[in-house]
This record gives sequence, structure tokens and C-alpha cells, in this order.
Amino acid sequence: MPEIQRLELKHQLGKYDCLVGSDLLPRLPEFLQKINAAGPIGIITNKKVNDLYGDTLRTSLQTADYVTRTILIPDGEAYKTLATVEQALSALIAQGMERSGTIVTLGGGVSTDLGGFVASILFRGIKLVHIPTTLLAMVDASVGGKTGVNHSSGKNLIGSFYQPDLVLMDIDTLKSLAVRDRVSGYGEMFKMGAIRDAEYLEFLSTHMEALIEGIPDENLTKAIARSCALKAQVVEADEKESDLRRILNFGHTIGHAIETSLGYGEIRHGEAVILGMYAAGWLSNQVGNLSSSEWEKLAELLKRIPMKLNLDSLDPATIEKITRLDKKVANSQLNFVLLNKLGEAQIQVGIPILMIKLAVEAIKKAWKK
Ligand SMILES: NC(=O)c1ccc[n+]([C@@H]2O[C@H](COP(=O)([O-])OP(=O)(O)OC[C@H]3O[C@@H](n4cnc5c(N)ncnc54)[C@H](O)[C@@H]3O)[C@@H](O)[C@H]2O)c1
Repeated sequence: MPEIQRLELKHQLGKYDCLVGSDLLPRLPEFLQKINAAGPIGIITNKKVNDLYGDTLRTSLQTADYVTRTILIPDGEAYKTLATVEQALSALIAQGMERSGTIVTLGGGVSTDLGGFVASILFRGIKLVHIPTTLLAMVDASVGGKTGVNHSSGKNLIGSFYQPDLVLMDIDTLKSLAVRDRVSGYGEMFKMGAIRDAEYLEFLSTHMEALIEGIPDENLTKAIARSCALKAQVVEADEKESDLRRILNFGHTIGHAIETSLGYGEIRHGEAVILGMYAAGWLSNQVGNLSSSEWEKLAELLKRIPMKLNLDSLDPATIEKITRLDKKVANSQLNFVLLNKLGEAQIQVGIPILMIKLAVEAIKKAWKK
């Protein structure tokens, strides 16, 4: 069994542990006691994840004399709304949730975002533990303190910064995850390597197949922990050095536009980011500092990631238009996160918007069947 990796993540108001390892769900009570978390424990999850892991969690908690309440939210991004928040709050209050209690989110990024937001406003904020069960939620959504829900006008428009007291990542839960969701999480880990750590990028590429398969070993534990540590470094530094956090958007400008254009059901967030990183890498070579040899290496690594996508309907002119609207482009130029080299990113200003179309054409050429 791989050793547990423990990260201590600092934020303005304090710090918390993020534990990554195997067979951690049954040990939740032991970790709750270390942070003095009292019951009732309000578990916020959905039916799919509850059916898979809810009983293990409840049995361990009840054996340790914790009172539990389970709140089921509907599955899917479409339900990450204020209406679901209100339902969850009403259910928690009706079931006797107390100010001294603890919210435990169990699930993907939708559960951690929504459950984190609920914890931040219930009784003006109660203890929060995240148990992310998708790779994306482990390496991205559960780290950094952003919580929230969507509004009909846009994604994640309503929310709060609310740090958890503990994050528990049990890598065994990734076995039941759909392959596309594991690829999606791999894309976010890849991004962290590309912008902050070339050695880590190399490691991810060497072990790509096993990591995407979700084999619960030393390498998966190491990969997740490193990605979280890299994200935490950026988020922590941002508190002093404003704007650094924007490099986390590498691959996201065009990635978001692709998600919007193809539709959220058609392409996973991380898959769109993988395509977006290809476009941003191409731009980094064309108008930035990325050498041709490093660009070729990056392009090869990205193309090796197994994705079954049909990009016939991906239209470069539509992506340019969406980007114009999304980024409120002034003077036909935009700011873009580009790579100086593998492992180092910077915000480059003044990229002509017309280049977007060419970058999307490069994606289409690379993924042509
Ligand atoms: N707060 C942040 O900083 C941040 C960062 C990145 C993404 N996000 C948010 O995260 C969300 C996307 O996260 P996601 O990709 O995890 O989506 P998700 O929560 O919808 O999970 C994807 C699917 O996997 C299922 N699932 C979860 N765990 C499973 C498991 N172990 N086995 C089988 N199925 C499982 C879910 O029920 C769902 O159907 C978006 O709402 C995004 O905005 C937030």
C-alpha cells in the first residue's frame, strides 16, 4: 500500500492538511478527531457516489459514535445552482444540523464546490472537510478555497472563498471513475507541470497510461500530491504577489471557448483544457519565447493523451468570436498565459485576437483522424 502523502496547505487565516493515500475513507474518524471536528456530520454527496462510498463512510463514522446526516444533491453541473444550495440547507436544518457540526463533501468538483459554499454560509460558516472522489476535484477543485455555484448568466458567478479544515484524497475511489473523467483530471495535472515544473511534466508523461488507468500506487499518490502542492504554491504566493494565480488559466482561454462551443455534455473540462494547452503552446512558440524543440515536445506529449474526440464541428471562427465576448477584447488584442519554456509560464499582453483562429486550426490539424 502506498505511503500517505501529507501536505500542509497555508492560507491567510491558517492552514490545513491535505492527505493523499489508499484506503483512507474508513479512517475518516481518526482524522476528524485530530481537527477536533464534532458531529453531527452532514455528508453532502450525490446518489451515484453515495451508492459507491456512502456506506463505508457512514459505518466508520457511526462506529466512532459520530451522528451522521446524508444530503443527496442531484448529479451534474446543471444542478450546481442556488436552488440546490437552498434545498441542501433546508434538509440540513430540518435534520438537526448544529453550529458545532461538520460538513463533509463527498464527490467530484460539483459536490466540493456546492458543499463548500453551503458550509461557508450555514450558521455563517461551519467546519468543512472535503473528500474529493474525481481526479479533477482532487488536484483542482478541492484545493485553493474557491467554492460556489453557477448562475443562469455564467459559470461560478456566485460563491465564496472558504478554506476547508481537512482534505482527504482516497485514491482507491478513482477506480470507479469513468476513463474520460480520469483523462480530464490528468489534463489539469499536466497543466501544473507545464506551467511550474518540467521534471513533474516528464514524470506525468512517463507514467501516463497507469495514471489514467487509476492504478492506486505510489506514482498516483505522488502525482496527485505534487499537483496539489504546485497549485497551493501559486495560490499562496498570490496572496502577496497579485496576479500570479492567473497562470493557472494556462490552456483555459481557448479551452473554455471550446467547451462553450461544443457543449458541456460533449467534452469534459479537462479534455477542453488539453486542446487549449495545445493552442496556447502553439502561440507560445509563434509569438512568445517557447523554443521550437520544446514546442514539438509539448505537442507530442499532448497528442499522446488518449482522447476520443470528434472535432469536425469545432469552428475556428466561432472560437475566436466566443473568446472576443468572453474576454471583452479591447483593440483586437488580448492577454494570454504563454510558456517561456516547459515548466515556466507568464502572462503575455497584446496577442492579436486573429491568432486565435490560427491556433484552433492547429488543434484541428493535430487531432485530424
Ligand atoms: N473550486 C475550484 O477551484 C474548481 C477548480 C476546478 C473545477 N471546479 C469545478 O469542478 C466541477 C467539475 O468537477 P468534476 O469533473 O469532478 O465533475 P463532477 O463533480 O460532475 O463529477 C463528474 C462525474 O463523476 C461522478 N463521480 C464522482 N466521483 C466518482 C467516482 N469516484 N466514481 C464514479 N463516478 C464518480 C459524478 O457523480 C459525476 O457524474 C465544475 O463545476 C468546476 O467548475 C472548481
